[in-house]
Amino acid sequence: MSAENQLRFVVEPHPSPTPIDQIAIELVNPVFGRVFSDHMVTIRWTEGMGWHDAKVEARRPFEIEPSCSVLHYAQEIFEGMKAYHGEESKISLFRPRANARRFRESAERMSMPQLPEATFVEAVEQLVEIDRAWIPTAEGASLYVRPFMFASESFLGVRAAREYIFCVIACPVGPYFKSGKSAVTVWVSDQYTRAAPGGTGAAKCGGNYAAGLIAQTEASARGCDQVVFLDAAQHKWIEELGGMNVFFVMDDGSLRTPPLLGTILPGITRASIIELARHEGIVVDEAPYTFVEWQADAFSGRVTETFACGTAAVVTAIGQVRHATGEFRIGDGGEGTLTQQIRTKLTGIQRGKMTDPFGWVHYLSRANCPNNIG
Ligand code: PLP
Ligand code: COI
Repeated sequence: MSAENQLRFVVEPHPSPTPIDQIAIELVNPVFGRVFSDHMVTIRWTEGMGWHDAKVEARRPFEIEPSCSVLHYAQEIFEGMKAYHGEESKISLFRPRANARRFRESAERMSMPQLPEATFVEAVEQLVEIDRAWIPTAEGASLYVRPFMFASESFLGVRAAREYIFCVIACPVGPYFKSGKSAVTVWVSDQYTRAAPGGTGAAKCGGNYAAGLIAQTEASARGCDQVVFLDAAQHKWIEELGGMNVFFVMDDGSLRTPPLLGTILPGITRASIIELARHEGIVVDEAPYTFVEWQADAFSGRVTETFACGTAAVVTAIGQVRHATGEFRIGDGGEGTLTQQIRTKLTGIQRGKMTDPFGWVHYLSRANCPNNIG
């Protein structure tokens, strides 16, 4: 327990945890977000008392009043991260401190109390440790960890709530997109936008996703895997996908990605790819890019590859782009060379198969790693 983290976690293990042979069945090709591990971590916050009652316990439903504030005014934020079984059975997380920082920033934007970063990381470690049997070992699989916080006060007045619950749950996951696909198809929404300047686009709050679901439904109806959002003011600048950031590979070998201007999520995968690419000598431009330019550059060959990235999606090539008046292909429609190289490097570091010059990999037992700074 560090000085920053004064909370003591009470651990009450599940009285009848899932038998190992049943877990083994659940770990075969898990669908993203359907099956959950045995435990959860909860911490409560109340005005006047602050953070208290930190617990690791059997996962169970919450009991909340119909007047619970989050059900009405959507004060809710979350994070997404993964735990991996690495070499020599070491268990690791990828840059959990970065998730802890973003969680604090999301909380600030949504007028919620800020959980100390060390407490956030310890809560995640506690859950992964007690449910370590749920971490899949198969190639491409991991334990997806979902920390979240919601306003739990029973009150209908419109103001920041005075009670919150922070919780962490976890689920074994395989690839986010249907396996076997080397590249996905995206739908460019010209009607719906995700976030406006001054809004909550940079916060990881549930409301952003609720607002984007109609466009995702539209995308699915057109046979697309994800939606690409354009900016809210001019409907021309590419922002991000429903649950991922986006990169373009130019024919001079450089990368381009939309800048962080407050309307898109500052992805940890995005930041890692930028650092990794620059470390390899690849030029990365964080520069605005319009849909019209993307289309013209895909036709002319100036853009050779495009990929989506995020914790759930990892690095996924975009092969086909559909929009209101037509569609176009990127490269040969499959995964390009640089996309594949970046995916291999990033996942190699994440899974402990390649050296990590950045100190991103955070091993669960401190004894295993002297520089847990991820
Ligand atoms: N953008 C959105 C809207 C997301 O939901 C996510 C996923 O968390 C990302 C980008 C990528 O963020 P990260 O790489 O931190 O997972
Ligand atoms: C994540 O990648 O963690 C997300 O939250 C995105 C969502 C598509 C699951």
